[in-house]
Amino acid sequence: MKYLILSDIHSNLEALTSVLRRVKRKRFDRVIVLGDVVGYGADPNRTIDKVRRLKRMMIIRGNHDKVCSGLESGEMFNRIALESAKWTQHKLLPRHRSWLARLPKGPAHIDELFSISHGTPMDEDAYIFGEIEALNMFRFFEPPICFFGHSHFPVIFALDSEALTTYVPRDATFRLSLRKDTRYLINPGSIGQPRDGDQRASFGIYDSGKMTMAIHRVPYQYQVTQGKIRAAGLPRPLADRLAVGR
Ligand SMILES: [Fe+2]
Repeated sequence: MKYLILSDIHSNLEALTSVLRRVKRKRFDRVIVLGDVVGYGADPNRTIDKVRRLKRMMIIRGNHDKVCSGLESGEMFNRIALESAKWTQHKLLPRHRSWLARLPKGPAHIDELFSISHGTPMDEDAYIFGEIEALNMFRFFEPPICFFGHSHFPVIFALDSEALTTYVPRDATFRLSLRKDTRYLINPGSIGQPRDGDQRASFGIYDSGKMTMAIHRVPYQYQVTQGKIRAAGLPRPLADRLAVGR
């Protein structure tokens, strides 16, 4: 089975369009979305339209999806995130807002092959940044792999009986052959708001038959996205950071 793994799209229509264009000729058995479809960007409705049109798609909600749909107040959000969430809430078409509010909460099991969670397998709002957090999380999921998002940072943590190994993808394509005796926590990176210093959209492809994982980076016209964010009157840092991936 081949899975397209998308996370943290954040209303960035240009980035999502570039990623889907890149994989257009590939066939996927399922598309997995790890949450945060909206928030930050200026195109929530068209982005949701695009996500909802994905075939054989399985999705869980992210923290921004909860606040933008009104499920939560966003008291834990910083000023910029909260401002954009309120803007998004106001802009969302009612049918999209209710779709967002009904998104399932992670973690979820997919095809008994892997788990998916937005934050951690234990808490959808918590972050996995480094090895200590990752190491603590392996006991909270059963399958060999758990895909997660939220940190906007592509990374693979691999745990075998000997050690924890961390892979941080830097190239346009990073490939890893997965081992049967190893368990993995994998973040495919963010489509719409990368924060690893690389402004290109980041996504993953998992092939369970070949036991391979790839993380790809795709350039997109972030200047167009920046223009929309500024024109919408959203906080300027949300546009500025797209140029540097921070
Ligand atoms: Fe996010």
